[in-house]
Amino acid sequence: MKKTFIIANWKSKKTEIEAKLWLQEFSNLKSQNSNLDTKEVIVCPSFTLLSIFKSSIINLKLPIKLGAQDISPFDEGAYTGEVNGKQIKELAEFVIIGHSERRKYFKEDSEKINKKIQLAFSYGLTPILCISEIKQIQNVKIKMQNYNIKCKILVAYEPLFAIGSKQPDTPEDADSIAEEIKKLLEDVYVIYGGSVNADNVNGFVDQKNIDGVLVGGASLDANEFSKIIANV
Ligand code: PGA
Repeated sequence: MKKTFIIANWKSKKTEIEAKLWLQEFSNLKSQNSNLDTKEVIVCPSFTLLSIFKSSIINLKLPIKLGAQDISPFDEGAYTGEVNGKQIKELAEFVIIGHSERRKYFKEDSEKINKKIQLAFSYGLTPILCISEIKQIQNVKIKMQNYNIKCKILVAYEPLFAIGSKQPDTPEDADSIAEEIKKLLEDVYVIYGGSVNADNVNGFVDQKNIDGVLVGGASLDANEFSKIIANV
């Protein structure tokens, strides 16, 4: 049976109080969500919120797994400000790598991204590798072969024009890119991201090659995010 990923990317948003309100509201709505056996719900909040999430998931019995939004390209050591894979592994199972905002504002290139992927794998974290064009996956493929990594990875296709713009790609275009990605990288899940909401999510997840969605803005509202999960 096809497993569908619904992943929330909170970016640099929400304080602790706001996160707790979201968690309570999401918990109140969770009965709306059925068929969770076929859905994998992952929330990627800021590092500062991961441990609150971890305890709330247990206390409120929430059907959520956790992801970080980034990982240090270095292992533990004297790297002020960095959060490394070993630290993330205590709190999360997934990690977003190479989001277009990190490529743009923090000048992340494929060399750094490949280091991050390797470190994520070495700590048993599943990378959610974001790409906005197919050539970015070609660089990753070569390095992955070099590292001889054989592990399932999630690739999020997020075209730049669709991020935060309320102008998503068409499901058909996204599906054809997802098909290309699956030809280039074996054994990957491909998800789509960019202006996904409760009304358009079905168009994407119904496509043959799309295994889920990465949701930014619409995931910040517990009610909207619950609707997205329910509609999948
Ligand atoms: P958006 O963001 O859903 O707000 O377009 C998606 C993302 O940047 O991951």
